[in-house]
Amino acid sequence: MGSRVGIIGATGLVGEEVLRLLAERNFPIDELRVYASARSEGRALSFEGGEVLCEVLRDGCFDGLDVVIVDVDDPIAIEWAPVAAAAGAQVVDNSAAFRMYDDVPLVVAEVNPEDLNELPLSIASCPNCTTMVLVTALAPLHRVAGIDRLVVSTYQSVSGAGQSGIYELDAQWAERAGDLTSLRRAAAIDGVIVPGKLWSKPIAGNVIPLAGSVKEAGYTSEEWKLVYETRKILHDDSIRVSATCVRVPVYVGHAMTANVSFHSEMDRAQAAEILASAPGVLLVDGGDGAPTPLDGAGIDPVLVGRLRDDQSQPNTLDLWVTGDNLRKGAALNAVQMAELLIARR
Ligand SMILES: NC(=O)c1ccc[n+]([C@@H]2O[C@H](COP(=O)([O-])OP(=O)(O)OC[C@H]3O[C@@H](n4cnc5c(N)ncnc54)[C@H](OP(=O)(O)O)[C@@H]3O)[C@@H](O)[C@H]2O)c1
Repeated sequence: MGSRVGIIGATGLVGEEVLRLLAERNFPIDELRVYASARSEGRALSFEGGEVLCEVLRDGCFDGLDVVIVDVDDPIAIEWAPVAAAAGAQVVDNSAAFRMYDDVPLVVAEVNPEDLNELPLSIASCPNCTTMVLVTALAPLHRVAGIDRLVVSTYQSVSGAGQSGIYELDAQWAERAGDLTSLRRAAAIDGVIVPGKLWSKPIAGNVIPLAGSVKEAGYTSEEWKLVYETRKILHDDSIRVSATCVRVPVYVGHAMTANVSFHSEMDRAQAAEILASAPGVLLVDGGDGAPTPLDGAGIDPVLVGRLRDDQSQPNTLDLWVTGDNLRKGAALNAVQMAELLIARR
């Protein structure tokens, strides 16, 4: 028997990827309903050789649905995810709205699927895209040796900020298209590339060492998410995490370096053996061992490379992780969670 599925934000970057994955993974669907803003009402979205028309959110719009996947910003999720749950659907939320609620599980499908067994609010959250990619790679190592401290620096693509992130980078490249001299000198000439709305500095040809908004102690929202979400997923509040989140002019694929200290013995050889068979992970150990965001874009696993023993202290690894922020970082995990929830019915 198939299920009745709804997607809120189906026209966005994550929502579009969810649609692709539902078809690709042959998710059993009897009925599909898609929702977006009033701008998209009536817009036809392709699905499995046919079309489905966008609806707006309104009273009663979720009636009869089994699962609703939420791919909109926090304020819309806060308003509508509980409405979907009250209508009887199990809700998988990609926004940050409910992630840190005690009674909402925060799940990476390969890491803590058992947390879906307790669903008091009928809402389960997906972690943010950087934490998802990182924790998929680190959880198998944590299980063996226990992570003591984690120092992370991220290289986050513009699609992590949604469709408007893509537009902002496109517009800045387009503004100087064909004008290579000013592009090459852009870093040196103030005002050559005009900043857009999302980032106060140009992102084209640049790197912005501040992803998210500045919060407590000068750390950004993205950095605090790495701290708190990592601990919640791994069920270990003692893990010490220090993060610096950076936006780079890459379209799809988040990457990060991690320096990871363990409580007990762990070295490169042991880590390589564990990662070689870890679910959702592809260890890139041959060749130059340096997978790029482009290598990881459009595929399911997160890629781990540059695996090294930290030469400055024992039981500590340096590694590089990259993964598709729209896929494993959001849509794939949501679809995997929906599959788990449907299987329990
Ligand atoms: N991008 C990522 O890498 C990523 C990763 C993990 C989690 N997330 C989270 O996933 C969510 C979606 O992100 P995204 O990147 O897909 O954003 P996006 O590309 O900006 O898409 C936003 C979606 O929200 C819809 N929307 C806007 N206002 C609405 C309203 N009033 N009612 C109903 N729908 C409305 C938009 O519809 P219209 O097309 O009609 O405007 C669009 O479908 C966010 O919470 C984000 O934080 C994103």
